[in-house]
Amino acid sequence: MDIRIVVFIVAASIVGVVLLATIGTHYGKVKPSDNGYESNGELIYMTGYNKDGERIGFTGGPQWLYMHGGSCVTCHGARGEGGIVPMMCSKPTPAIAYEELVEHGMTEEDIKKAITLGVDDEGEPLDPCMPRWKLSERDLNDLVDYLKELSERKATS
Ligand code: HEC
Repeated sequence: MDIRIVVFIVAASIVGVVLLATIGTHYGKVKPSDNGYESNGELIYMTGYNKDGERIGFTGGPQWLYMHGGSCVTCHGARGEGGIVPMMCSKPTPAIAYEELVEHGMTEEDIKKAITLGVDDEGEPLDPCMPRWKLSERDLNDLVDYLKELSERKATS
């Protein structure tokens, strides 16, 4: 066989393997920046998916959320401003930018419990319209960091 053909076949194979490996690593993963989001926390808040492409699970909340999808933004607004009465829910949602929650007497631990267990700072169950979110430690921390970022944005705008 002509040596140039051999070289070509070897080179083409290497390129192919590298391409497949690259595609394989990224397949199924959503980098926040791919969607114009700057962090994993923002991605979760806005889409209900984390940066590994996993849908954040939840229990409770209204039926339509299971069918149509949605996340914090759907009920609490793009800036965490609240004041929205979600479909099938009986009252307006609270504002959830971090500083605002702290002003109302919540600690970081209380906020995490509200999100994951659906209880208020006295351990009383929140309105059933607020879903109970099943977040990994990393995703929960990233999401709370994003609530802090919402406060900072509010302060500077
Ligand atoms: C289907 C609508 C809905 C979605 C989606 C939703 N929430 Fe809520 N959330 C509520 C409602 C309604 C309340 C008020 C519950 C109450 O007053 O008992 C609430 C309360 C809260 C509270 C407690 C605030 C307080 O002042 O006690 C926090 C924190 C919170 N939500 C964070 C989140 C985060 C973070 C997400 C996204 C992971 C989210 N919520 C998604 C409806 C929703």
